[in-house]
Amino acid sequence: MKNGFPHFMLKEIHEQPEALKNTILPRLVKGLPDFGDDGIPDTVLKQCRQVHIVACGTAMHAGMVARALMEPLLRIPVMVSIASEFRYEEPLIDDKTLVIIISQSGETIDTLAALRLAKAFGASTLSVVNVKGSTIARESDYVFYTHAGPEIAVASTKAYSVQLAALYMVCCRMALVRGNYSHEEAEDFIKKLLDAIPAMEAMIEKRDEVKALVTHLINKPDAFFIGRGLDYAFSLEGALKLKEISYIHAEACAAGELKHGTIALITDQVPVIAIATQEKVFSKTISNIREVKARGGFVILLTKERTKVEPGIADAQVSIPEIGDKFTVFPIAVVLQLIAYYASVGKDLDVDQPRNLAKSVTVE
Ligand code: M6R
Repeated sequence: MKNGFPHFMLKEIHEQPEALKNTILPRLVKGLPDFGDDGIPDTVLKQCRQVHIVACGTAMHAGMVARALMEPLLRIPVMVSIASEFRYEEPLIDDKTLVIIISQSGETIDTLAALRLAKAFGASTLSVVNVKGSTIARESDYVFYTHAGPEIAVASTKAYSVQLAALYMVCCRMALVRGNYSHEEAEDFIKKLLDAIPAMEAMIEKRDEVKALVTHLINKPDAFFIGRGLDYAFSLEGALKLKEISYIHAEACAAGELKHGTIALITDQVPVIAIATQEKVFSKTISNIREVKARGGFVILLTKERTKVEPGIADAQVSIPEIGDKFTVFPIAVVLQLIAYYASVGKDLDVDQPRNLAKSVTVE
């Protein structure tokens, strides 16, 4: 069942490029995203005045990435809510709102309750679900099935990257039908999305390089992940992955927010994983890394391979292939997953079945 891999998680990390292909390629018509076979009408994507994304855990983190991508592109409000909060709120949503529900299992109880609330408010509901025929899929107005195949390890890996691929495609189709993108721009977006597949393969090939980094983490009680913009959204998932399977206390902090509190915790005992793949905020993130270095923090820097970094800024570094800034999440996700995986293995923990966690959370 594990196809020769020691753990399901490692197998599922390796399955990601294929899962991306299975999710993206059947939905391309002449190089553009087309959801005719999914029964998702353009009118829903075109007429909404706001988007509200609701999910839990890793799925919510995919939503955070989508928000950072969608709002500047579509020029409409895009919000993300944690389902267990949303379900008890009185959200400002209506029949002009597209609520996107994300769930690998399609059975998470808080996410299901959020879907029912969104429907009660009259919103259109589109779910991004991996498990066919699951409750969330059945109860949503429209479903975008991801094609990751069964995910067995509790720590979500391939489900996260296909959720992202689905959300990127929805974003591109929305931009096209709403007039934010021309055909050429949409085609270019999809080409760059497809570039993510070899970029992920390249990072899987570099797994030993990532494994070597983990020696700086496994004996430490805490670790921080920092970044700005999209890089911050990636950091959230990096921290969750590390804590859930290695039991290292891990926290993501928007890099510019460090000096508002979190920097008090940075000492020479603290590893900081700094993600700096976004040109727009790169120099700002580097300034924050300097602040960390000044407190003795051990900096592991994740950047693109051609990014010039001044000597001494990082104690260790992993580079991802050159790829459009909007798409760096795909290779970065592989690095973050491998960091967590090798930390768990290095501590001799139960990688696939971490303590206190269930694959599908069907109770409140
Ligand atoms: O099945 P779902 O996507 O609704 O599950 C949501 C979370 O429970 C899940 O993503 C969880 O955070 C992961 N196991 C973390 O790796």
